[in-house]
Amino acid sequence: VEVPLRILRALSRKPIHPFYDKEFSNLYKESVSFLREVIGTEGDVLILPGGGSLGIEAAIANIIGPGDKVLVLSNGFFGEVLKHLVNAYGGNVLTVDAEYGEIVEPAKVGELLEENPDVKSVVMVHCETSTGVVNPLEEIAREVRERSDAILIVDAISTLGAMPIKADAREIDIVIGASQKALSVIPGLAIVSVSERAWKAIERRGYKGHYMNLKLWNRGVKEGKWPSTFPVNLLYALHEALRMIFEEGLERVFERHRFVGGFVRSLVKSLNLRLVPSKEEYASDTVTVFYTPESISPSELRDHLLRKYKVMIAGGLGTLRKSTARIGHMGYGADKRLLKAVSSALVRSLRDLGYSFDLERVEEVLKRLE
Ligand SMILES: Cc1ncc(COP(=O)(O)O)c(C=O)c1O
Repeated sequence: VEVPLRILRALSRKPIHPFYDKEFSNLYKESVSFLREVIGTEGDVLILPGGGSLGIEAAIANIIGPGDKVLVLSNGFFGEVLKHLVNAYGGNVLTVDAEYGEIVEPAKVGELLEENPDVKSVVMVHCETSTGVVNPLEEIAREVRERSDAILIVDAISTLGAMPIKADAREIDIVIGASQKALSVIPGLAIVSVSERAWKAIERRGYKGHYMNLKLWNRGVKEGKWPSTFPVNLLYALHEALRMIFEEGLERVFERHRFVGGFVRSLVKSLNLRLVPSKEEYASDTVTVFYTPESISPSELRDHLLRKYKVMIAGGLGTLRKSTARIGHMGYGADKRLLKAVSSALVRSLRDLGYSFDLERVEEVLKRLE
C-alpha cells in the first residue's frame, strides 16, 4: 500500500508527547472520533499497538471461553485462521464454509443459528483477502440478529477505510481493522470497535490477560492509564491519515475505491484472465485476485513485475498459492496515476512472458484512467 508523504512526515515527527500526557490522550480521542465515522459506530473504538492479527486475537480472547459454541464463517485463508484461533481459545467451533471464490451464504448462517440457539458468537471475515471476495455483511448480520443474541465479530482488516461497514446500523459488535491497509499507514496499529453488547460479554468472560485485555486499553482511553508504552509516532501517522480521509470526504474515498475496483476487474477481464470471485458482484473494491495464465506462474509474474518495472503485486494465499496473483488497490494505492503505472506494467509483463491478448480491447479499458 502506498504511504503518502504527509503520513511519512507525521511518522517521523519528534515524539514530544509521551503516551501518558494530555496531548497524546487528545490525539487518541480525536483519532477515535474519526474511526467511529469510518466504522459507522457510536460505540467505543480502541487503537492497539500491534498487527491486525492482534486485534483479532484480542477480540477472540476477550469474548470466547472454553466450551462456548462459536459459529465461524469461512471461504478462504483468513476464515481458516479464524477457525484455528477460536479453537485455540477453547471454543466449540461450528462452521459455514464456502468454496474459495464464493460468498458465505446468509441463508446457511440463518439455518445453523436456527438449529443451534446456544451459539454465543459468530466470527467472520468481511473481505477475504485471499480470494478478493466480500462477504454479504448486511445480510449475514441480519440473519445473526433475527435468530440470536450472538456477538458478531468481523475481521474488516482489508476493507476498513475503503468500503462501508455500518457497524451500528447492522448491529455488528466487534469490527477489526489494521493501519497498513486502506488507511495507508505503515503496519503497527490494530483497530477494534466494541459495542455495548460486546462489553457485557467481555465482563461475563472475565479475561485475565494483560496486553490483549480490551478493558485495560479502554481504561487507557478513559483515564490515561495504559497497559503498555504506546508507539506515539504511529498514532501521529494514523491521525494524519484519518485527517486526509476526512479532507477528501469519506463517501468520496469509498467512491474512489469503487471506481478503482471496477477498473482493475475490467482490465483483468480484457486480458482474458479469470477472476477468483465467481461473480463480479462478489468482488472487493480493495483487492483483485485472478488466475495467472497456465504458462505463467504467479511467482514468475510477480518477480518480473518487480525486477523490470518496480511494481509489486502479491502472490496467492492458501490453496490458491500456486495459481493466483493479487493486486492491492486500497488507500492511496487506489489512485489513477499509480494504477496507470501498475496497469501498464502488468500488460507489458504478460507480453514479455509470452502471453498474448487483444491489445485493442485492453487499451479501450486503459482509456478509463484518462
Ligand atoms: C482479512 C485479513 N485478516 C487478517 C490479516 C492479518 O493482518 P496482520 O498482517 O496485520 O496481522 C490480513 C492481512 O492481510 C487480512 O487481509
